[in-house]
Amino acid sequence: MINLSNFSSIFIANWKLNANNDFINDYYQKLLPRSNSCVVICSPSIYLNKLKINSNNLFSGAQDVSFFNEGAYTGELSSRMLLDNNISFCIVGHSERRQYFNESNKTINQKATNLINNKIIPIICIGETLKQREQNITFEILLNQIQESIPEISNKNNCIIAYEPIWAIGTGITPTLDQIEEVHTFIKNSKIINGDLKILYGGSVKPSNSANINRLKSVDGCLVGGASLNVEEFNTIIS
Ligand code: PGA
Repeated sequence: MINLSNFSSIFIANWKLNANNDFINDYYQKLLPRSNSCVVICSPSIYLNKLKINSNNLFSGAQDVSFFNEGAYTGELSSRMLLDNNISFCIVGHSERRQYFNESNKTINQKATNLINNKIIPIICIGETLKQREQNITFEILLNQIQESIPEISNKNNCIIAYEPIWAIGTGITPTLDQIEEVHTFIKNSKIINGDLKILYGGSVKPSNSANINRLKSVDGCLVGGASLNVEEFNTIIS
């Protein structure tokens, strides 16, 4: 398993349902990972073996994994198969999967457990909707997601949390720096997590806001969607 304590920041590129062979070739010619940061490129699964990795700071990650370990589950990919293909990280519980594929906290917990057991670091996404924020139930929602989706075997070496307010994903709107700091501090202080898990911020991270977000004491890096598809923009974010 990758030693997370080696890195001052962690940056995840979430390409979602985008990319092709030409895109990948061009991307890796231009990508400039910095030595003290961990950079993880999460492509659609079919391209994972085409991604370049090194043993220092550039890794590949999956965007999802099966709840099951093996058997008659057509279309699925298991944690062990990811391990077998040198995949070091995997996003789980992204809000798009929760919304479009009906993923529950319980399923996410099982996926994350399988990943940890196979020495792959899950990046578990949590976050509130705009309606929930307006109803002042953000912390309640996050606490429930933490309680139910973060496995008991998780610790700061084998698991990462990504706080992604759903209203900030792909909208160009971000919480204020104070709001990000407030939520991250709340998560770090929540007694249900074993130790000090790294917490990434995600949701409309761009070159123009990434430095300020990353400078926050409670932010350990970023999960980047749209802006990670532009390698120049992503280079600025990880610099
Ligand atoms: P965004 O997506 O950066 O395009 O807002 C982030 C994510 O969905 O992980």
